[in-house]
Amino acid sequence: MKSITVNLKNKSYPIYIASEGWEELPQAIEGKIRGKKVLVVCDENILPLYYNSVKSVLISMGYQTDVAVIPPGEASKSFDRAQRLYTKALETGLDRSSSIIALGGGVTGDLAGFIAATYMRGIGLIQIPTSLLAQVDSSIGGKVAINHPLAKNIIGAFYQPNMVFIDPHTLISLPLREFATGMAELIKHAFIADQDFISWLEDKMEALISRDIQTLSDALYRSCQIKVSVVEQDEKETGLRMILNFGHTIGHAIEAATGYSKYTHGEAVAMGMVYESKIAMNMGLISQDYIDRLVCILKKANLPTQLDTPEWDPIIDRMAYDKKNMDQRIVLVLPTRYGKVEVFKDLNPDQIKRLLK
Ligand SMILES: NC(=O)c1ccc[n+]([C@@H]2O[C@H](COP(=O)([O-])OP(=O)(O)OC[C@H]3O[C@@H](n4cnc5c(N)ncnc54)[C@H](O)[C@@H]3O)[C@@H](O)[C@H]2O)c1
Ligand SMILES: [Zn+2]
Repeated sequence: MKSITVNLKNKSYPIYIASEGWEELPQAIEGKIRGKKVLVVCDENILPLYYNSVKSVLISMGYQTDVAVIPPGEASKSFDRAQRLYTKALETGLDRSSSIIALGGGVTGDLAGFIAATYMRGIGLIQIPTSLLAQVDSSIGGKVAINHPLAKNIIGAFYQPNMVFIDPHTLISLPLREFATGMAELIKHAFIADQDFISWLEDKMEALISRDIQTLSDALYRSCQIKVSVVEQDEKETGLRMILNFGHTIGHAIEAATGYSKYTHGEAVAMGMVYESKIAMNMGLISQDYIDRLVCILKKANLPTQLDTPEWDPIIDRMAYDKKNMDQRIVLVLPTRYGKVEVFKDLNPDQIKRLLK
């Protein structure tokens, strides 16, 4: 079992990447749960796949274990669902020494994490991410949130877990499109921070998409290390952490302009990375070779690299609403060379339209 320590000012905690699966969970949990009561939150897809394995471990360790099951999908990050979980927490008798385990994808992690952050002003939280996106991205860094009908992820907190346990074997059951969506974030980590990791991904992409466990485990390790190092330097996203948004200014706008239904988040981010790289190329920051390599890797990972019919006006309008924008300027994270990006804060919509041509 490999581990990475997340070192933050007020808290440090481990991320474990298991090689032997659930067998290693007891060792990982040891000392991370104070009280005796644990509430596992998972969605209806995860319940039949992985809940029993986790429950057996918890029971063998003497914990009183209950489960709250949510419908799969983004709609579960709602006030209504949060209220039902608070009710369940009260009915189960969770107290300040109890813990919540988020077992599932990013939706489960964000929602269950939000409950853990707010119930009784904060109780224990353990993340057991099962989607690739959750393993390389959402379970790390402590952002937890639910959605408001007017805006996504707008009600939330920074709330770090006591431990993250990643079992790469769970990726075997992940649907193809969900796997690709996580690959977009993993590839993003290489392009923002590690030129050698880009070359490694070029070599190993076939093994990764055929879900070879050892290769996945190596990729998870490097990808998590990159996210951890950014989060350690800027826990509350006041500066550096923005580099994780490479591909996201345009990606979010694509998602919003297409009603959050046509593309998954990772698919939109994949196209966002390509279009943002085009802007960078037209600004003279990088060359065509960069875009060619990025497109080639994304294609091998089953991700789209361009819109079927690019209609920029509605997309650029959406960019003006992006959370990262300060004073109507559009903030873009642009590549400046392989494994390096910088934050640009002064572009206006007209310039962006011109640079995308
Ligand atoms: N907190 C953060 O820093 C952060 C970062 C990125 C994204 N997010 C959030 O993450 C969410 C998206 O996460 P996601 O893509 O994991 O979505 P998700 O949780 O909806 O999972 C995607 C689908 O895959 C299924 N699934 C998950 N693991 C599986 C497995 N091992 N086998 C079979 N099916 C499995 C789920 O049931 C679901 O149907 C969004 O709400 C987004 O806002 C948060
Ligand atoms: Zn993302």
